[in-house]
Amino acid sequence: MRTLKDLDPRGKRVLVRVDYNVPLKDGQVQDETRILESLPTLRHLLAGGASLVLLSHLGRPKGQDPRYSLAPVAEALKKHIPSVRFVPHTPGSEEAHRAVQDLAPGEVALLENVRFEAGEERNDPELSARYARLGEAFVLDAFGSAHRAHASVVGVARLLPSYAGLLMEKEVRALSRLLHEPERPYAVILGGAKVSDKIGVIEALLPRIDRLLIGGAMAFTFLKAQGGEVGKSLVEEDRLELARSLLERAEAQGVRVHLPQDVVAAQGIEAGIPTQVFPADAVPQPYMGLDIGPKTREAFTEALKGVRTAFWNGPMGVFEVPPFDEGTLSVGRALAALEGAFTVVGGGDSVAAVNRLGLKDRFSHVSTGGGASLEFLEKGTLPGVEVLE
Ligand code: 3PG
Repeated sequence: MRTLKDLDPRGKRVLVRVDYNVPLKDGQVQDETRILESLPTLRHLLAGGASLVLLSHLGRPKGQDPRYSLAPVAEALKKHIPSVRFVPHTPGSEEAHRAVQDLAPGEVALLENVRFEAGEERNDPELSARYARLGEAFVLDAFGSAHRAHASVVGVARLLPSYAGLLMEKEVRALSRLLHEPERPYAVILGGAKVSDKIGVIEALLPRIDRLLIGGAMAFTFLKAQGGEVGKSLVEEDRLELARSLLERAEAQGVRVHLPQDVVAAQGIEAGIPTQVFPADAVPQPYMGLDIGPKTREAFTEALKGVRTAFWNGPMGVFEVPPFDEGTLSVGRALAALEGAFTVVGGGDSVAAVNRLGLKDRFSHVSTGGGASLEFLEKGTLPGVEVLE
């Protein structure tokens, strides 16, 4: 990839695509990780004498829905870079174009949500051309969005001299290490709701890894495929055959698969609801499994001992509703305890667990990309990486 080493930003207006798709509540940014992770690139460019025009998406709005405005993000960013101002116009508009004309070196304009533009997600060439008029060089630092072949990610990159930002570089370097000659034993821990989101990455990683730990609701599709009784737990009925075949392939390739042995179950998902622990393959109606149980927490911790490389994506239970967060936290602790291993975590809930435990620094890399990190591991590249090569 072309990187910031190849760009002299002095006196240039640089268009930077960041990923400020951050959680908001009552107009306040709830987690600033993605903002903080963008600062090294922004500061590098500002110190080099550039002015900056920032592009980002937020959420998945249908049209120009003010609930998805980036205005609260600008407020949060201003605390770190006081010269930031919010331009309440969509990036393809004449108003936005005019607003950035008089930016002086050191100044930063954050434009309104790129997904307010109808052509953004279909990578409309005309929209990309309008974006390209906003700057003289383009820096892609939105690793979390680099799997989206959208106008503000790849369309505009084809029209301007384009470079990877520092976050983008850091992410690609760390994730590449998981693909190229990782030290063994190598464990992958997957969770979350759906097997269907993880099929590609499981298939791509099976030949490379030694242990696969599966938690979260996706485990129930595997448990049911093996003949287990899972009560009202979430199951993808149309993926049972596939789950069986993945388990067979894992065995054939010498990968040890760890499924939950027990689960914490309840009759609903409300906080404070009475819970019970059942064997994972004998959850009675009307219970549903909502987290891995205590035996599984121990077994997973044990299975991670001695690994030299680990990748974790996805919660082990309904992380946002205590007490169903315990399994996810225990995986975070087990990985953080590994000495000298190369450990990578990606995805909203798993990263939130690591942050909540205050153990971020115990990981080799905490990815800002959920879907992007999975797709990178599956394909070895991303549309946003290819376009910079
Ligand atoms: C993410 O949060 O995974 C990225 O910002 C991409 O968002 P998207 O899935 O809405 O494209």
